Amino acid sequence: MIKRIGVITRDCAGINAAIRSIVRTACEYNIEVWGILRGYEGLMKGEMIVLGHRSVSGIINTGGTILKTARATGFLTEEGQKQAVKVLKDNKIEGLIVIGGNGSLTGAHILASKYNIPVIGVPATIDNDINGIELSIGADTAVNVALDALDKIRDTATSLERVFVVEVMGRDCGYIALQVALAGGCEEVLVPERDFNISFLCDEIKKGSIKGKISWIIIVAEGKAKASDIAEKIKENTGLDIRMVVLGHIQRGGRPTAKDRILAARLGNFAVETIRKGFSDVCVGLNSDNLITIPLEVAIQPKNLEIESYYRLIKLLT
Ligand code: F6P
Repeated sequence: MIKRIGVITRDCAGINAAIRSIVRTACEYNIEVWGILRGYEGLMKGEMIVLGHRSVSGIINTGGTILKTARATGFLTEEGQKQAVKVLKDNKIEGLIVIGGNGSLTGAHILASKYNIPVIGVPATIDNDINGIELSIGADTAVNVALDALDKIRDTATSLERVFVVEVMGRDCGYIALQVALAGGCEEVLVPERDFNISFLCDEIKKGSIKGKISWIIIVAEGKAKASDIAEKIKENTGLDIRMVVLGHIQRGGRPTAKDRILAARLGNFAVETIRKGFSDVCVGLNSDNLITIPLEVAIQPKNLEIESYYRLIKLLT
């Protein structure tokens, strides 16, 4: 029976609730949990703390990660990976639970498939781009944070009859942009996965303005374009008064929503059950309210976000 596991995280709302669930479930089985600080960077350096029942008190409602995190370019090399494996072996850590997005789960898959370390992934990313998993921890909070900001922007956009370009997060993925555009009743959305034509958009705005529609909100995912560039082009082309807002990292922080906390509690618990049973190289998830596991190799493949059907609905409803 597994006696000691490590937990490693990225950063988004709900991760602390997942750590709490993992630690408290592990306590039930007398499994020791070591929190690895600063992601794979800390793993390579052997930076760890022991987490007990009480050390995860009062964190269910907090954003970020109590374990801190970092981008770890060194872990991309074989030397870095071997160093990480050595740290695990030296400290008798028999398995790892990795909570994070595509990059973190790719690292998890490498440790499991190449170095035979028992590893379970827990999907947690505001981009919600883990393939085969309906919803990742942190995505619901991020969409709600962005939507809250957007509703405020709409108030002033409507009052002053202005066009606003609002940039949301999503370097490779239009998830937040599409969700927010639909939930916020926005007129246009630009995402990395879809081509768009700026002159067509400007013509639409000009035609609308002739009919009296002056207030527009255009959402742009950061990986598609800069809001400032789009705003500039629309201004040049239409002569209208344009403003732009970059929402930025507020989307990755904040108190996790109830949905994220519940998801984190369930997935954290299930991750411990899964590693106890001897599974490895899989990602846990919830689909149609059922707990599932899928191979990490599948989870890190590109996810189909049904962009076109979302886009059509957003345009239809404006
Ligand atoms: O992968 C999550 C994410 O928040 C993306 O949506 C965003 O583009 C990126 O990370 C930002 O990364 P950083 O915090 O390094 O600026």
